[in-house]
Amino acid sequence: MDNFISVYCLLLLLRMATAAHNTQEGLTAKERDENIPLLIAEDVIKIYQTGKIETQALRGVSFKVNPGEKVFLIGPSGSGKTTLVNTVAGIIKPTSGKVFWKDLSKDITKSSLEEIIRARRSFAGVIFQDSRLLSHLTVKENIELAGHYAGINPSVIKKRSEFLLRFLNIWEKRDKREDTLSGGEKKRAAIATTLITNPRILIGDEPTGDLDIVTAESILDLFDRINKELGIALCIVTHSQQVASRADRILELRDGIIIGRHGREIVLRKLEESRLLEIDRQNRLAIPKYILNVVNDPKHFTITTKDDSIILTPVFDPNLYNNGQDVVTCAMCGKRVSHTAKFCPYCSETITHTKGTK
Ligand SMILES: Nc1ncnc2c1ncn2[C@@H]1O[C@H](COP(=O)(O)OP(=O)(O)O)[C@@H](O)[C@H]1O
Ligand SMILES: [Mg+2]
Repeated sequence: MDNFISVYCLLLLLRMATAAHNTQEGLTAKERDENIPLLIAEDVIKIYQTGKIETQALRGVSFKVNPGEKVFLIGPSGSGKTTLVNTVAGIIKPTSGKVFWKDLSKDITKSSLEEIIRARRSFAGVIFQDSRLLSHLTVKENIELAGHYAGINPSVIKKRSEFLLRFLNIWEKRDKREDTLSGGEKKRAAIATTLITNPRILIGDEPTGDLDIVTAESILDLFDRINKELGIALCIVTHSQQVASRADRILELRDGIIIGRHGREIVLRKLEESRLLEIDRQNRLAIPKYILNVVNDPKHFTITTKDDSIILTPVFDPNLYNNGQDVVTCAMCGKRVSHTAKFCPYCSETITHTKGTK
């Protein structure tokens, strides 16, 4: 009987424990956690003001990073990549828009700098291109100092820094100072100083941009292990093919907006082959310039649908073009075309830009 009662109690306890773990929807707390994005950027706009000159670096960018995900950002120089990662890392404030960090459960653009710095310690590790190690301290001391700044218990710091030194393959270098380390070792040490706080996400702006190809490969392997084995999400800016092929999701920035996404089969020199254009939260769809150039760079279109396709037909109406100053007449078919056109989009005749063609 005693045995029966203890087995019954055990079953009851087990059921209570399971119930505590399950939400109403039948998800465990862990599953529920995995379903909530770690980081959300919503309609982020950043305008830099230098004297009288305004630069719109971000023109309304929205994206999410889920727990454990590897999201990379690509785009030409000046497209706003650095501004975007610095904004989501809480380093710069956007002109408008919202940035949510899961741990803080509020829009960080409304938080004070102190609050952001405190929350960032456990939420995000930021990897800069330069190592930012203190040169008079050893690798181990640098890692421990980062832990002390974050207010972590000294015994936890000791354990975790030993684990990280081994995990990142710099155990042998723990008593060395920065000036005796190779580029790859400095990078590993810098990564260790950001991981001491056990963050949920690593944010990096071209973190291997200063390394040779072989060293970069070993650091990228390390990022993969950090992601897989420690479950830390990655949000990384890159314009390296070597880096991009390792992403779960790649977002392409152009002129301050996200124009589309790519998978890991991406070839950076042939973005048009893997690009999936995206209508953003503000209902914008950026048509790539190379497509517009094929039809002589029109500014206006009619829009129709056929079966499952949307058809945009260029319209070169002189009334729409700067009072007719920006269109010329094709000498062959008489249609009006853009004044930048080399060939007529209707009959393929070469457009000659002589006086009187307007
Ligand atoms: N501190 C700043 N002051 C003024 N303009 C800036 C500043 N930082 C960046 N910009 C401008 O904002 C745009 C986006 O820059 P950036 O975010 O650095 O792009 P990327 O990292 O893609 O090269 C560029 O036109 C750049 O000149
Ligand atoms: Mg940059």
